[in-house]
Amino acid sequence: DISPLGYTVGVTLDRFIKDKQADFPFATGELSQLLRDIALASKIVAREIGRAGLSHVTGAFGHTNVQGEEQQKLDVVANIRFTRALTKGGEVCAVVSEEENEVIDLQNKTGKYVVAIDPLDGSSNIDVNVSIGTIFSIYRRVTPQGSPISEQDVLQKGSQQVAAGYVLYGSSTMLVYTTGIGVNGFTYERSLGEFFLSHPAIQAPVTGDIFTINDGLTPSVGLGIVEFLNACKRKGRTSRYIGSLVADFHRNLLKGGIYLYPSSTKNPSGKIRLLYEANALAFLAEQAGGMATDGRRRILDIQPESLHQRTPLFIGSRELVEELHTHL
Ligand code: AHG
Ligand code: MN
Ligand code: MN
Ligand code: MN
Repeated sequence: DISPLGYTVGVTLDRFIKDKQADFPFATGELSQLLRDIALASKIVAREIGRAGLSHVTGAFGHTNVQGEEQQKLDVVANIRFTRALTKGGEVCAVVSEEENEVIDLQNKTGKYVVAIDPLDGSSNIDVNVSIGTIFSIYRRVTPQGSPISEQDVLQKGSQQVAAGYVLYGSSTMLVYTTGIGVNGFTYERSLGEFFLSHPAIQAPVTGDIFTINDGLTPSVGLGIVEFLNACKRKGRTSRYIGSLVADFHRNLLKGGIYLYPSSTKNPSGKIRLLYEANALAFLAEQAGGMATDGRRRILDIQPESLHQRTPLFIGSRELVEELHTHL
C-alpha cells in the first residue's frame, strides 16, 4: 500500500514488538522493553553519526581498549549511549561491551537479562562517512536474581541467546533483529523518529555470488581458504568488502554471499569477537536459513572462555559455507 507520502509507513517497531509478544505466552514484556531501549539508544547514536563531520566526534579518543585497538571518539560515545540506556531501562543486570575490560554489573537486582554489545562496529570507517553498525546479543541470566553476576551468566553459548540483532547506520539506518522466530528488518524514518517494518521475514539466499574478505590477509591464511578464494575467482564470483562487519553481513544476507574472517599469522584466532560480534550474527544467519561456523564448529555451539575471545568466522549463504568446508 502506498501512503500519501509516496511510500509505505505501516507497522512501527514498537507495534511489531508488542504484537510479537503474543508468540511468548508467559512473557512479561521485559524483553520487549529491552528491545525498545536498544532502539532508542540507536536513534541517538544515529543522530550523532549523522552529524559526525560537524560535531567534532570524528577521530581518535586517545585511549586503547582491551583489544589493543585505538578507541575512536564515536566508539566511546556509542558505548556510553547504549550502556546508559541499558542501565536506565532496568531489564538488564550485566553488560559485556567491546569497549569495557570487565563485565559491567549494573547492580540491578530485578534485571533478568545479560547483554553483550559492540556499540560501534567498523570504527575504521567512521571518519570517511562509510556504513558502520551496532551489534547486540541478549541472554537470560542463569544465576538467581539479586545474587552477584557470575561467569556463568556472561559466558553462555550463542545457542542460549534469546534475541540478537544489529543496527546498520548506512545510507539509511536499519535495525534487524530476531527473537528466534525468523528475522525482521526495520528502516528508520528520521523525520518521524520511528523505525518501520521494511524487511519482514528475511530469508538468506541459499547461495550467492559474493565473497567477502580482507584480501590483504590471504598471504598469511590457511591453504584451504586460498583454494576456496581461487575457486570463487574461477567461477566469476564478485568480491565485495566494506570493512564494517555489520554492513558486509547485511549485504550478503540480502543478496547472497559469504563473509570470511579466517585466522592468520597476525591473528591466530581470527579477529572477530565471539561474544559481541560473531554470536549475534550467527543467530541471525541461522534464523534466516544461512550458516555460520569457525571452519569446524557451528559458532553457536562454542563454549566461550573469556569475554573478549576471538574466533575465525565464516558466515552467510548455506551452500557457500558448505562449499568452503569442502576445502578445509
Ligand atoms: P570494531 O570496529 O567493532 O573494532 O570491529 C572491526 C572489525 C569488523 O567490523 C570488520 O569486519 C573488521 O574488523 C575489519 O577488519 P580488517 O580491518 O582487518 O579488514
Ligand atoms: Mn574496535
Ligand atoms: Mn566490531
Ligand atoms: Mn566496535
